Amino acid sequence: MIIDIVTIFPNFFNEFLETSIVKRAIAKESVTINIHDLREYSNNKHKQIDDTPYGGGVGMVMTFPPFYELITKLKQPFSKVIFLTPQGNVFNQNQAVDLSKEKHLILLCGHYEGVDARVLELVDYEISIGDYVLTGGEIPAMILSDAIVRLLPGVIMEESHQSDSLSNDRLKYPQYTKPEEYKGYIVPEVLVSGHHGNIEKYRELMAIKTTMEKRPDLIEKTPLTEKEVKILEENK
Ligand SMILES: C[S@@+](CC[C@H](N)C(=O)[O-])C[C@H]1O[C@@H](n2cnc3c(N)ncnc32)[C@H](O)[C@@H]1O
Repeated sequence: MIIDIVTIFPNFFNEFLETSIVKRAIAKESVTINIHDLREYSNNKHKQIDDTPYGGGVGMVMTFPPFYELITKLKQPFSKVIFLTPQGNVFNQNQAVDLSKEKHLILLCGHYEGVDARVLELVDYEISIGDYVLTGGEIPAMILSDAIVRLLPGVIMEESHQSDSLSNDRLKYPQYTKPEEYKGYIVPEVLVSGHHGNIEKYRELMAIKTTMEKRPDLIEKTPLTEKEVKILEENK
């Protein structure tokens, strides 16, 4: 996969590209992430990429021509262009899974009061990372890239993201590691029993219970299966 990120703050991404799983995915060539400085596509001698809004009003608006030039240069017939915006659909794990199957994503980061609305005519999806307003689209672009990159084949073990919270609208079971006891805080006995069948059953039960407790909306969206109802009944 190729991810092209369009920004006026390219340095924002330095640490992101050099850290943890994203760094490893780039090294393994599972993904190529290119950062493009939008200012380089400004035809203004001061590299200005914003201007006052037509009709008046507060703040500055990012101009259309630099976006047009850069998008038309990068875009292939199969590319998906995404504008990060608080006006978009709120991003979720299912969308991360869908986007991880694409070959080429172009992520556009806005700033100031946003972008000239003609940019939206070049966009396939408008995506928000939540119902709040940030100063720019850089953090949202990192969030999308991170969520997508970890789903690419070979980046992390497939079993790992298949049992991640929100896969199939369920949360992950609670996890523990060594030591077995610390100052009276203990690990559930079943997990140190070595009995794989019981451990599996405990995890299935805890995934259902955790979801019911923390995210009842997910159970409403995807009701309990017959198997899950049976597990709950067996453990009343
Ligand atoms: C200050 S915001 C502009 C908000 C705009 N005036 C509005 O009311 O829709 C500047 C930029 O930050 C990014 N941004 C802010 N909040 C975001 C969110 N929740 N999700 C995705 N991008 C966001 C967008 O790229 C946006 O163009």
